[in-house]
Amino acid sequence: MDDQPRPRTPLSSTPAGTPAEHTVGVWARGLDGVAYGGDYNPEQWPEEVWAEDVRLMREAGVTFATVGVFSWVLVEPREGVFEFGWLDRLVDLLHANGIRVVLGTPTTVPPAWFYRAYPEARVVTRDGVPLGFGSRGMVSPSSPQYREAAVRVTTALAERYGSHPALALWHVHNEYGVPVAEDYSEHALHAFRDWLRARYGSLDALNARWGTAFWGQRYGDWDEVGLPAAAASVVNPAERLDFARFSDHQLRACFVAERDAIRAHSDVPITTNFMAFACGSTDLWAWGREVDVVSNDHYLDAADPRNQVTLAQAADLTRSVAQGNPWFLMEHSTSAVNWQPRNVAKQPGELRRNSLQHVARGADAVGFFQWRASRSGAEKFHSAMLPHAGTGSRVWREVVAFGADLGHLAEVAGSRVEARVAVLWDQESAWAQGLEWRPSVDVDARERTDAWYRALWDDHVTVDFAHPSADLSSYALVVAPASYLLTADDAANLTRYVAAGGTLVVSYFSGIVDENDAVHEGGYGAPLRDALGLTVEEFAPLRAGDGVRVAWSGAPDDDGAHRELVADTWTDHLALDGAEVVATYVDGPVAGGAAVTRHALGDGHGWYVSTRLDDDGLRAVLAAAYQDAGLAPRDGLGAGTGRDVEIVERTGDGRLYTFVLNHGTEPASVPVTGDELLTGSTVDGWLKVPAGEVAVVRSPR
Ligand code: GLA
Repeated sequence: MDDQPRPRTPLSSTPAGTPAEHTVGVWARGLDGVAYGGDYNPEQWPEEVWAEDVRLMREAGVTFATVGVFSWVLVEPREGVFEFGWLDRLVDLLHANGIRVVLGTPTTVPPAWFYRAYPEARVVTRDGVPLGFGSRGMVSPSSPQYREAAVRVTTALAERYGSHPALALWHVHNEYGVPVAEDYSEHALHAFRDWLRARYGSLDALNARWGTAFWGQRYGDWDEVGLPAAAASVVNPAERLDFARFSDHQLRACFVAERDAIRAHSDVPITTNFMAFACGSTDLWAWGREVDVVSNDHYLDAADPRNQVTLAQAADLTRSVAQGNPWFLMEHSTSAVNWQPRNVAKQPGELRRNSLQHVARGADAVGFFQWRASRSGAEKFHSAMLPHAGTGSRVWREVVAFGADLGHLAEVAGSRVEARVAVLWDQESAWAQGLEWRPSVDVDARERTDAWYRALWDDHVTVDFAHPSADLSSYALVVAPASYLLTADDAANLTRYVAAGGTLVVSYFSGIVDENDAVHEGGYGAPLRDALGLTVEEFAPLRAGDGVRVAWSGAPDDDGAHRELVADTWTDHLALDGAEVVATYVDGPVAGGAAVTRHALGDGHGWYVSTRLDDDGLRAVLAAAYQDAGLAPRDGLGAGTGRDVEIVERTGDGRLYTFVLNHGTEPASVPVTGDELLTGSTVDGWLKVPAGEVAVVRSPR
């Protein structure tokens, strides 16, 4: 990457949620190689400490620092009165030391004066509780006073720093969608009615789309339409789904307002930090269209013994939202966080392994929260690059060593991950499926998405995520783990994909409702009837703790038996319409009926899995689907090189970079030849990677 931003299409003032041309190929200005740094909150320290900070940043190889994220009251201590002296000195100090600046707009924590002046701008919870000051989390995103104040402080920053030579990237706000996404204030009520008017045009249309004939909910006047606040029983699910859309839209509108305020004074690229799969209130496909550079925050779930898999899953969604372009890991942790029930410290080497997982999956920047551990406040027990124990600590030594590692990987920046398999993910469908009174509380969109992802991981298959409306033609295999809400158009897209030669695998409880959570006419799964050769006549969920056995059809095993898989939670009574039966229920409510099916359409195949198979069962289905897709999963790995060895490739400029990350406890060996970049050694035929270690091998493509 050169010193200038790559060519980009200028962003226009698109209303939030309107598809905008993606600014493909933009990157943070002046950050070459794989950037390295973190959140830096020097306002928590006397200025004498800053000199030590930048000296140590240089020692660690830090190339960027994210500043100003929580500094609204410092730059605007009173309404309309700005003070930039400290920030001028800080930005100049970083610049003088060759450290580039990612500049936060501080709008995630309005100052105390704002809450005092505009108490009606506070967020109100679903139960009617207004949320006060003393913590963090923005006020009502629908409040005109908030929007005006946010744009004012953002404009002041953009005017002052928009052309500063140190500036690499604008970092708008912080983690939109947490800690609260939904707001039930008066401001929200009026904005929701406006949003609904724009969406439906007339009250008649709203009544029809929300199905208000049910339970006598018909509205006769717009002023009767309320927010889906706490009520005596279940609130209209179409209304709740729209409220989830509206809430996300309001946050995005705040982002767009700040982004456009910056754009008027600065052509430095703009981002905001997402939380892929960790924040259920933002639809990242829509957000990804609005930013110049996609960035993400990721924190391991310490309670999950295989959290490397969910890390990879978040990284893959982030890259997919970035349309395969390099993305920015804005935050993760050097060791423990402070907000989980048990904050497990990372093992030696884990920082490096986790960080390089993100790089393997497309990140061209590695950032941490935060540079120097805070002495006070709610996050004083969170790890940092410079921990409370100082430079005599293991964490510090690993931070310095990792900076050197990234130096060896500079040439990887700009290369891309290419996947032949896509997993469908639609946040709107997850919102809808997550509402109350579904056929079983055990059916969960994330649970199946995670399970299918895990099964693909265990087969060493690299995947993209895709929205069901996306162009899927570059994928040999598409898995739909949780497409409960599937519009007729999106179902037609999937059907075209199959007919054109694709292999589609659909899990149960898919193709059930339209965009208003209304059951599709023609029965469950009707929009996918052509692709799958079936519909679902009746759901047959299982009692808690009950399981079913599923027998694979076709040729028996060597011992004369048919392979049996185990499943639980869910079964379906299927109405076959051309599909062939691949596996049958041995017992349970559908004993003798089809459990797994395969259907030929045009040049492709549609598979349907009607029950919650365990991971081995999913891998059995995948093994068969790979054959339809013409995919040969990676084999020929060395003895003991199992599912805990992560192998991912990035390609670029005629080169292939093979990342091998050994998360297991045994040494791994992988067939590859080339130059190992982290050690500078040559690999001839077999790469050996000790337990816990990482290697990156460059080969000609
Ligand atoms: C989030 C926030 C940071 C910090 C970290 C702690 O990512 O953006 O400000 O609170 O969590 O893990």
